[in-house]
Amino acid sequence: MKGILLAGGNGTRLKPLTNLISKQLLPIYDKPLIFYSLSVLMLAGVREIAIVTKADQQPFFESLLGNGSNFGISITYFVQEKPEGISQAFLICREFIMNQPVMLVLGDNIFYGPGFGTSLEQMKTISGAQIFAIKVDDPSQYGVVEINSDGMIIEIVEKPLESKSKLAIPGMYFFDSSVTSRAEKLTKSDRGEFEITSLIETYQKDNSLKLNILPRGTTWFDCGTVNSMCDASSYVRVIEEKQGLKIGCIEEIAWRNGWISHEMLSEIVDKYRESEYGNYLMKITEE
Ligand code: TTP
Repeated sequence: MKGILLAGGNGTRLKPLTNLISKQLLPIYDKPLIFYSLSVLMLAGVREIAIVTKADQQPFFESLLGNGSNFGISITYFVQEKPEGISQAFLICREFIMNQPVMLVLGDNIFYGPGFGTSLEQMKTISGAQIFAIKVDDPSQYGVVEINSDGMIIEIVEKPLESKSKLAIPGMYFFDSSVTSRAEKLTKSDRGEFEITSLIETYQKDNSLKLNILPRGTTWFDCGTVNSMCDASSYVRVIEEKQGLKIGCIEEIAWRNGWISHEMLSEIVDKYRESEYGNYLMKITEE
């Protein structure tokens, strides 16, 4: 399975923070926002990853993450000239996908919850598409899914003004190998984007769309606004301080997955000496 991490977009709602730098490179407490979505791909066991960015931002992403070998993964970078929608990622990354199934994550989303990583590992042999839903109080900013009493999907609506459902669709999706050919057939919506909901609907029409409602204990942040970034930072800080464990620490995940050696991790610790992040990595290697 291939992974796509979408880190383009204009970050309009975060300006002037995003005048110079992409939202996904901004900090959420002790690490760049992109670490959290990258860690979700890694927890799902995905090692071949495409990162899609704006053209002028690509060098920054590359100097942060390189070719991925420090984290036991392989990263290929792609440019999205204009943010023309999430489904456009499949057209941009066509050669990378090579007709394989794809896990797509949005670079400004954060997930955390018990058993979360292990549950994702099972998605590797997907047929059709798998989307997720999570209950939120105000669904108006998100794609929303309405279900009937049997849990079957009735409708998916993008940013509804009024919605009967409070089930938001977070930025994590699994698609089978037909995804690229489906994306090729999409047309732009009224707001000029290749919508992810349109792509999902093609699976719904074929009765091959699955919905997994994330358990109540799952935390999800969509860091699209200043307030949500602050909330996410506070949340990460509280959990990390209470538990003494980091959320979204990509070096730790690579090491625990057996993708990088103890020696490699020690070299990274050296690089981060003096920082609290480095101290944490040192602590886990000693344990
Ligand atoms: P959005 O939050 O929908 O868009 P944005 O990041 O440009 O922010 P704003 O609405 O404030 O202008 O995007 C969600 C994620 O998907 C985010 O990580 C950016 C990414 N994205 C792209 O990479 N390309 C796109 O064409 C779109 C629409 C989003």
